[in-house]
Amino acid sequence: MKSLKSIKNWTLTKSLKNNNFSFKRNYVLRFVPSLLLTNAFKSISSWKNYKPTPLLKLDKLQKNLKLKNVFYKDESKRFHLKSFKALGGAYAVEKISKGKKNIIISSATAGNHGRSVAWGAKRLGLKCKIFVSQYVSDTRVKEIKKFGAEVIRVKGDYENSLNECKKLSKKNNWKIVQDVSTKDYKLVPQLTMAGYSIMIKEISKQTNQYITHIFLQAGVGGMAAGVVTGVAKYFKRIPKIIIVEPDRADCVLQSIKHNKLKKIKIKKESIMGGMSCNEMSYIPWQILKKTSNCCVSVSDRNIAKTVAMLKDKKLSKNSIIGGECSAPGIMSLVGVCNNTKIKKIIELNENSNVLVIGCEGNADVKLYKQLLSKGRK
Ligand SMILES: Cc1ncc(COP(=O)(O)O)c(C=O)c1O
Repeated sequence: MKSLKSIKNWTLTKSLKNNNFSFKRNYVLRFVPSLLLTNAFKSISSWKNYKPTPLLKLDKLQKNLKLKNVFYKDESKRFHLKSFKALGGAYAVEKISKGKKNIIISSATAGNHGRSVAWGAKRLGLKCKIFVSQYVSDTRVKEIKKFGAEVIRVKGDYENSLNECKKLSKKNNWKIVQDVSTKDYKLVPQLTMAGYSIMIKEISKQTNQYITHIFLQAGVGGMAAGVVTGVAKYFKRIPKIIIVEPDRADCVLQSIKHNKLKKIKIKKESIMGGMSCNEMSYIPWQILKKTSNCCVSVSDRNIAKTVAMLKDKKLSKNSIIGGECSAPGIMSLVGVCNNTKIKKIIELNENSNVLVIGCEGNADVKLYKQLLSKGRK
């Protein structure tokens, strides 16, 4: 495999400064109230096997990029679900079911959210129906079934699976636990985001360095907005927020650009499956339109290389298992460092303490193996 030198050529597809930026803690916590965040931490930290995920340092990368620190929050170690999503769906199931045992939970998913919901239902002894599109891999389906959920495959994309989930849930009186919010569907997504904010609560205790920049992967924007709520509540200083998306699914970038929620057309699915979304969730839009400093997009090109570099200790002294959605955090940091203009705009320099989120491990074991072997060539 190529050495770290090869990252000199890595580029962003697009970058955009958010001209409407204005980070106000009170504004953010209006959408996901502080008490929800407190309660999420209280509940989840009392679950069996809870422990904070590691905050690692990509010491070799930070040296190469001439940054003070590059921290990597390793969500591959989140319970045994291998992604930050364990904090969201499973918590929402607990809150929504309110101790009842005779309800059936349902959800549509690109993989990780459904796995979290299925796990959450199993923890509480509830039945669960998970809807997936034709693009969700068999490996991911198998992982969901492991938690006893029934998986229903729907022809077409994520939206089709969501529509089918809504239709059957209404007919059968199943309780939908969806992480995507609309104007009329807010509580479950709020609970989910409150769960995600735990990553920031943990980080606030794991380092005494002030984080200056956070690179956040986005699909519908739930993870990014959840992290931002955590920043608003737990961080003493507000870092710069950079949103990264697949260039084939840049719905956040397009929405920020046009200053309104934009639905885009995905011509070809990105390998970053969990981030391949065509429209932002409503509350994340409200939050990110004010709190993101800039949006960038990356192609699939360097995903496999980044996965291999993480595993083969090219970026740090630790060997890290980071999947296809973990890679873009690092790729976009590198892309920004290779782009003088945007680097200057976000004031990224030798004093910067950067945080990237390793949002998943080998959640799709088969795809992970393929990426690793491709990236090592
Ligand atoms: C591993 C991983 N990272 C990031 C995302 C994007 O999160 P969101 O859709 O909340 O923006 C997802 C979504 O499923 C995911 O599974």
